[in-house]
Amino acid sequence: MNILAIESSCDETAVAIVRNGRELLANQINSQIELHRVHGGVVPELASRHHLEAIHPLIAAALAEAKMDWPDIDGLAVTQGPGLSGALIVGLVTAQSLAWLMDKPVMGVHHLEGHIYANFLAFGDQICFPLLVLLVSGGHTQLIEMHNHGEYSLVGSSRDDAVGEAFDKVARLLGLPYPGGPSIDKLARQGNPKAFSFPRSLPGTYDFSFSGLKTAVLYKVQELQRQGVDLPVADLCASFQAAAIDAVLDKTLRYARENGIAQISITGGVSANSLLRERLHEEAKASGIEVFMPPLSLCTDNAAMIAACAYYRWQPSADLDLLAKPRWPLVEAVQAAQASEPIQPEQPTPTQKVS
Ligand code: KG4
Ligand code: ZN
Repeated sequence: MNILAIESSCDETAVAIVRNGRELLANQINSQIELHRVHGGVVPELASRHHLEAIHPLIAAALAEAKMDWPDIDGLAVTQGPGLSGALIVGLVTAQSLAWLMDKPVMGVHHLEGHIYANFLAFGDQICFPLLVLLVSGGHTQLIEMHNHGEYSLVGSSRDDAVGEAFDKVARLLGLPYPGGPSIDKLARQGNPKAFSFPRSLPGTYDFSFSGLKTAVLYKVQELQRQGVDLPVADLCASFQAAAIDAVLDKTLRYARENGIAQISITGGVSANSLLRERLHEEAKASGIEVFMPPLSLCTDNAAMIAACAYYRWQPSADLDLLAKPRWPLVEAVQAAQASEPIQPEQPTPTQKVS
């Protein structure tokens, strides 16, 4: 089954074609980072306008990359939420217009479920359940236990800022360019992670909190500025990063150990962080836990993960009536899908072997 997927929930316009949930035939991504950098963050109206300009050329490029034409496509998938509403609408209107025009089924996909399925695209049947997924992006920080395809328990989530958002805000405070995560990661390598002691979030729960950490960095910067010293930016980056990564890593490993979970995966933009990758690799190995880290191109926003998710969870819309869902908790989305009957031209089963 060849699925053409569209992702436009934030600042990446992406189109991909994936065969049977595993074979990546085309992966086109147009990033708007440069466009938004001058504003220090994503400007929703600019994002929507840019999606509109980029989307059709990207679809043409994806079909060309896969050496395919519309008759080769069996279905469409599109990110329905969560995300920026104008940005989501561009993808949804495009996908549903094409579905009508080309007479193809179309499925709305939850963006975070897409991130989870980056693992299945990359590792397929190496993954066993239960799988513990640490989803760390600019918009979300969630620890999710996946029991089977489409079956999740939310173990913990951020009560305030997402971890990527904290990286971006601290970077801005330190005068580093947007997006802040890569800048902090790079500078932290030259700094001392023990130079400053910043708080680790919320002991005794699997939830996360990053606003206290962000404020602690702000107060430290203000204190140093009052003293008239040059800001030790690399030390501040290293100390902040150590605290932020400690917070997500400790909870993930603790939950896995306490619940006998043998496989952990990370996904989302912050999973590019070098400290997180190194420490997770070492500490999980020491506990006999297997770690899956999809390649970075599949961890950050992309449409291939949306196509993979649609393949494993195929449930197309009956009436081309998919509306944008800017705020859409994952567990609610899955329960609603389970309550409705699947409509199936060609339904892959979760146990079906894919190649
Ligand atoms: O998943 P993503 O591409 O977009 C969504 O938010 O959905 O994640 C983007 C986030 C940004 O906050 C960015 O600063 C962060 O991922 N990020 C990093 C690194 N690379 C990207 N954070 C820490 N270290 C990195 N190396
Ligand atoms: Zn994302």
